[in-house]
Amino acid sequence: MSLLRGRFKSSVSDLMQRFSSSLEVDLRMLDEDIEGSKAHATMLGETGIISAKDARTLTEGLDTVRGELASGAWVPGIEHEDIHMAVEARLTELVGPVGGKLHTARSRNDQVATDLRLWLRRGLGELDLALRELLETLLQRAETDGHTLMPGYTHLQRGQPIFLGHQLLAHAFALSRDRGRFQDALARLNRCPLGACAMAGTPHPIDRQRTAELLGFGGVAENAMDAVAARDHAQEVAAAATICMTNLSRMAEELVLWSSAEFAFIRLSGSFATGSSIMPQKRNPDAAELVRGKAGRVAGAFTALTNLVKSLPLAYNRDLQEDREALFDAVETTRDCLRIMAGAWSTLAIESRRFEDELQGDFSLATELADDLSSKGVPFREAHDTVGHLVQALEAKGETLSALTPERARSFHPKLGDDLESLLDPRKAAERRSSYGGTAWSEVKRQLSLLRDAL
Ligand code: ARG
Repeated sequence: MSLLRGRFKSSVSDLMQRFSSSLEVDLRMLDEDIEGSKAHATMLGETGIISAKDARTLTEGLDTVRGELASGAWVPGIEHEDIHMAVEARLTELVGPVGGKLHTARSRNDQVATDLRLWLRRGLGELDLALRELLETLLQRAETDGHTLMPGYTHLQRGQPIFLGHQLLAHAFALSRDRGRFQDALARLNRCPLGACAMAGTPHPIDRQRTAELLGFGGVAENAMDAVAARDHAQEVAAAATICMTNLSRMAEELVLWSSAEFAFIRLSGSFATGSSIMPQKRNPDAAELVRGKAGRVAGAFTALTNLVKSLPLAYNRDLQEDREALFDAVETTRDCLRIMAGAWSTLAIESRRFEDELQGDFSLATELADDLSSKGVPFREAHDTVGHLVQALEAKGETLSALTPERARSFHPKLGDDLESLLDPRKAAERRSSYGGTAWSEVKRQLSLLRDAL
């Protein structure tokens, strides 16, 4: 028998019952629901709204319900609209009419809002752990393999020689900003809605600060209507997850490219690569491809949440029940992708020779010549133009910079031609870029220790 149908003559249609139930998704926040209810019952007892004995009966009963659900000893049926109704119904079966006192000075509106924030707190904790693990992996790789030279790309065209560590740390800095975004979101959402009731508060002498304290919140959500209506914290987490996933997708794209025969910069470990059902030789970068694909899915969750709350009148509307599926998915997908990337990066083999070979026989060092000229007082634009002509001439003969002799260089500009050997040494070229934040190894090491300290 439903707890909510006192005012109805007819029973709800089966279709409506199935359509409206959020039980399946809600089960993922069972622990949060029980914790929230226990804190509420404890507060009701402490304030004398219910007796201390009743409060104890309720909290103990709630633990029993959690145990039954966890072990499968009790499986809630579809007749329960959601986890909140299911738990209360089972509690009342177990402890008798006193179970009906649990919902004193509470509404499902503040209950749902509380469960969601508690769930997010846990989810954000897991995300932070996964982010730290990936950061740790990247820093480790930068330490052990970061001194490998490679072409730095712009427009996916070879640009200038850099150290691999420089590129790894570029990703690491982006990920550390993701960490910051999640931490900011956590600080804002860590306020307890419980006691807001439907949206207007209650005549019962509740102690919202106490409930918040029992649940480890940093404080209470100040306005009862905002407490039940707001979902901007959910959007914020999904937005941060979307940004994090786009960062991961860029990293994933590099794994896909770099593991191809054309680049062959890395070799993915068998534990993170998959085979083909027809081509026996294949070693596919599915892990990275899935991360790339799931970035779209998480962005979809953010879009879903945003459209859910757009133009929604205050305070609670049933639309809000749709928030969990998108949000849980965004958080869990992001967490899993972070773990996968950490796994892939910690096990892949770096083909240092291939990285460095790619620098031979191309024009990645053309900027060195232009920088050399400009350091001798030639305006950079003129230097750029001169070296452009030089590149064109070499290219026309099917040659590269390695064919350049001092005499030939001088024929393009009298100030060109000295120190060619050193100028066209890729490692020296990378080391020369020692400006703050540059690719020189000393700078990579400085950044590395900044990131280490932040971890
Ligand atoms: N299952 C609903 C949800 O998850 C519970 C809140 C119901 N509140 C209400 N006023 N009908 O959002």
